[in-house]
Amino acid sequence: MMNSVVLARRPAGNPVEADFAVREEPIPSVPDGHFLTRNDFISLDAGFRNWMNEDSGDDVLPAMALDAPVMGLVLAQVITSRHPAYSEGDRLMARFAWQTHTLSDGSDFIAPLPRELEFNASAYMGVLGDTGMSAYFGMTDIGKPTADDCVLISGAGGAVGSIAGQIAKLAGARVVGIVGSQAKAEWICSTLGYDAAVIRSGDQPLSEAIADACPDGVDLFFDNVGGQTLEAAISNMNHRGRLALCGAISGYGVAPHGPNNLFELVTKELSVEGFMTHFRHERYDEARGQLSAWLRAGAIQSPEYQLEGIERVGKAFADLFAGENFGKTIVAL
Ligand SMILES: NC(=O)c1ccc[n+]([C@@H]2O[C@H](COP(=O)([O-])OP(=O)(O)OC[C@H]3O[C@@H](n4cnc5c(N)ncnc54)[C@H](OP(=O)(O)O)[C@@H]3O)[C@@H](O)[C@H]2O)c1
Repeated sequence: MMNSVVLARRPAGNPVEADFAVREEPIPSVPDGHFLTRNDFISLDAGFRNWMNEDSGDDVLPAMALDAPVMGLVLAQVITSRHPAYSEGDRLMARFAWQTHTLSDGSDFIAPLPRELEFNASAYMGVLGDTGMSAYFGMTDIGKPTADDCVLISGAGGAVGSIAGQIAKLAGARVVGIVGSQAKAEWICSTLGYDAAVIRSGDQPLSEAIADACPDGVDLFFDNVGGQTLEAAISNMNHRGRLALCGAISGYGVAPHGPNNLFELVTKELSVEGFMTHFRHERYDEARGQLSAWLRAGAIQSPEYQLEGIERVGKAFADLFAGENFGKTIVAL
């Protein structure tokens, strides 16, 4: 049988487990021009919250329909193919729905993987997947950290942030992370090598807490959170600082808080650049190559928050917004 996680109701603000339900149906037969995969891992990615509201469709994806499988990213292996471009045994990272199996005509967003994997398969959803490559592109193309920089990272212990912080450390920078709890603050310093941590929900206003942790100001801000966090970072930026905007989880599915200090972009001559990893599709081999070399050398680690079973996918997604995850959130099927 094939199991699918469907959108049972539209989340009100942050998603909760009860917004999702599991449906069972027979595994479909494979018509000409199609292939069937077995999905081994589901990657939980905060950005998909954006398409769960009614009328939220855009150039990237249509709004998700109620009672239909939820769109996401999966690590898949082809088990039957009647498609000329795919053969049994091919491994794929694909934008497929949260399902144990997928019937595809090949028109989905698909990135092929080697048949023989060098690392644990789950790493291809994390450090070598969309989120690890987001850290790579944001740091390599935009942030370009150096040993003279103080680098501040929001969502610092999450999937993207945990890798971004390690890349900035490899460049010799002083690296400070913003996180949601004392336990995560200790973890990013002891396990990932961050130099200091700021707790976003602490007693002190965030801007002051950042100033204490970054007494010489911030040269590069890598942002996964947006809103008030972005505002607090802008007020701590040094002259000609750089901001690499990767995401804005604080505003997904809710009315976003706009920074009220954008004039500081002018007075401090700041550079701000956003990016979308899937637009760099042709450079995935380069990104995976560098991240693999660091992994192989033991220069970076690939922390995972892994749950098991299709029935835990909804919980895993909700956990992202509750900050329960340390590292990349993945469900093994
Ligand atoms: N540009 C791209 O191509 C691209 C690709 C992939 C992901 N992204 C973006 O990268 C960011 C991270 O995504 P992810 O899937 O890897 O998630 P993640 O960082 O693994 O998990 C999300 C983390 O964000 C923090 N958070 C949750 N709600 C928050 C809120 N309201 N305010 C402040 N912090 C909050 C929580 O950490 P704490 O509780 O510790 O703060 C949580 O653990 C997202 O914004 C995502 O859209 C962008």
